[in-house]
Amino acid sequence: MRTDVTNATNETGHAPSNPSQAMLRIAEDYERWFVPPIGTPSARRVVDAARIDAGDRVLDLACGTGVAARLAAEHAGPTGSVVGVDANPAMVEVADRAAPELEWHTGVAEDLPFDEASFDVVVCSLGFQFFADKPAALSEIARVLASDGRVALGTPGPTPPLMVAIDGALADHVGPEASGFVHAVFSVHDREQVTGLLGAAGFVDVETDARPLPLRVPPPAEFFWQYVHSTPLAMLAAGLDDDARAALERDVVERCRPFVDGDGAVMEPNLLVATARRRREAGQP
Ligand SMILES: C[S@@+](CC[C@H](N)C(=O)[O-])C[C@H]1O[C@@H](n2cnc3c(N)ncnc32)[C@H](O)[C@@H]1O
Repeated sequence: MRTDVTNATNETGHAPSNPSQAMLRIAEDYERWFVPPIGTPSARRVVDAARIDAGDRVLDLACGTGVAARLAAEHAGPTGSVVGVDANPAMVEVADRAAPELEWHTGVAEDLPFDEASFDVVVCSLGFQFFADKPAALSEIARVLASDGRVALGTPGPTPPLMVAIDGALADHVGPEASGFVHAVFSVHDREQVTGLLGAAGFVDVETDARPLPLRVPPPAEFFWQYVHSTPLAMLAAGLDDDARAALERDVVERCRPFVDGDGAVMEPNLLVATARRRREAGQP
């Protein structure tokens, strides 16, 4: 049965009445609808690339609702520790509800609320592309990593055809701000760019792995509204009346027809995973 997610309403049928409730609703929808088909397979690739050992102290940077942290905890085990940090307190609240046994903080990548050398591994899945000051974020990652610590960054792009179709409908029916969000999501996918940034921040042994990530998502109309309501697009779509929503949905369905496969749709974004090591300091083990 199709879940009706075309309106940003809560279980009582009312739209959230204040911005922090709206943010919380988006974070809950992110965990419910985005994480299973997209967030989890992406995070799994990033966490696997980080080669986390039992006992490692791991930071999940831009943790969102914490999917990478939860996967990392399986590798770090009971002798390790996992901390998640995200700029959005609503995401952090949902992460804490999902895994209260892990440690969660609100904070920005460019000014991390942790002491030097607090972690052995930093993972960041689907977050690095949003950082306004990437050199500052990488310098902070280097600061909080122990000597010889590892980082793994996963960013998707270029924009896969299904999302190009959705982006076109958003641009026509919602406006350039909505389209701009989709562009930001897929904006960092150039190996040289990421390698250069890591090298400039003093990281060594930089390696990249860029491969398609086969994803199966719900049929276009359902996937579209789930995506909208799991992201800041929900705020922009909230301004549309019923007729405008219906016209937008019809256009999405038409544009996404080539990607329908059985009872769902297929999307195969490329995922760039970059790994690197903080330079070992003289005299440190
Ligand atoms: C697409 S979500 C990815 C979340 C999670 N890593 C996952 O894989 O599901 C991007 C996250 O980056 C966070 N974010 C964006 N800019 C940030 C910044 N400068 N510092 C910390 N978090 C940031 C957002 O709040 C959001 O939760």
